Amino acid sequence: MKEIVLSGIRPTGNLHLGNYYGAVQNFIKLQDNYNCYFFIADYHSLTTHPHPDDLHGRVKQILVEYLAAGLDPEKATLYIQSDVPEVVELYLFLNMNAYIGELERVTTFKEKVRKQPDNVNAGLLTYPTLMAADILIHKSNYIPVGKDQEQNLEKARDFAERFNRIYGIDYFPVPQAFNFGNDLIKVPGLDGSGKMGKSEGEGNAIFLCEDDKSIRKKVMRAVTDSGPTEPNQTKPEAIQNLFNLMKIVSKPETVQFFDEAYNNMSIRYGDMKKQLAEDIIQMVTPFRERINELANNDEYIKKVARMGAEKAHESASKTIKEVREIIGFRSF
Ligand code: ADP
Ligand code: TRP
Repeated sequence: MKEIVLSGIRPTGNLHLGNYYGAVQNFIKLQDNYNCYFFIADYHSLTTHPHPDDLHGRVKQILVEYLAAGLDPEKATLYIQSDVPEVVELYLFLNMNAYIGELERVTTFKEKVRKQPDNVNAGLLTYPTLMAADILIHKSNYIPVGKDQEQNLEKARDFAERFNRIYGIDYFPVPQAFNFGNDLIKVPGLDGSGKMGKSEGEGNAIFLCEDDKSIRKKVMRAVTDSGPTEPNQTKPEAIQNLFNLMKIVSKPETVQFFDEAYNNMSIRYGDMKKQLAEDIIQMVTPFRERINELANNDEYIKKVARMGAEKAHESASKTIKEVREIIGFRSF
């Protein structure tokens, strides 16, 4: 039997090049070789109290964008978290053995307390328990997540082991981070600050749904400096970032051309950015077209969601039935 890989996607913002090269491309490879579950974490998103008018649209947009980017509902189980309420029951069970002290020590929680002192709700505190429930409900083996999620994953491991120990049964596999070896790439942003991300500020990220004009505008505004002052100089961070981005989207000879121009001090950043913008546009265009197509195909989206819900429900209800029995619930 194939091992189980699972990951959750927060329905916030649009898919950008960082998400695509850093996450989705890995998912696409994984879906060919593992029994994959990918879901949109809409329960999790309630910690920020989204308006009811926004929630569905955001979930649909993310589903459409991940489909357009290459997640295949025939290969992976692609579902919406709230279509599988068994997750909530497991969350409740796990919470009975999750301790306030350990949850309070989770870095992401401490950060939220600092950043949003007015909304420190119990959902935030128990975010790691819900995430553990997501993972354990399908008895997942591998979780492909970035560094920022390591501590949450650690909690999921603790809760799995604790459950097994309490009930004296080797029931839940202890989930591991999926190790990509050297395959993990970091996509730099356009503001010179290292990482492309949706919360890094206006103009830093390029989205897969973005139009040509806006891409050109953002790239032309990317942070540079006044140019090299001596041959073969080490590139400052912002310039290196621009080259790194170019390495990801452009042909090797294009990168080489501008690298040589940098080294012999003839580089014109305007030309480099123009080229970079065109190469990003070439990469993004087919995705944007597919996003627009899918967004108008409600029948298909509905079918995908239904299919995912069915498959996820099948696996989740089996787990919940067994867990109930292990805990000692019996029907009369
Ligand atoms: P954002 O930083 O835009 O909020 P998320 O935190 O939602 O992005 O990230 C979702 C996934 O995309 C994670 O697996 C994360 O590691 C990956 N990812 C996000 N930004 C980048 C980036 N600049 N380079 C590589 N991977 C990224
Ligand atoms: N917490 C993850 C994030 O912020 C999303 C997520 C929710 C998740 N449940 C998960 C990731 C289960 C992996 C496994 O990106």
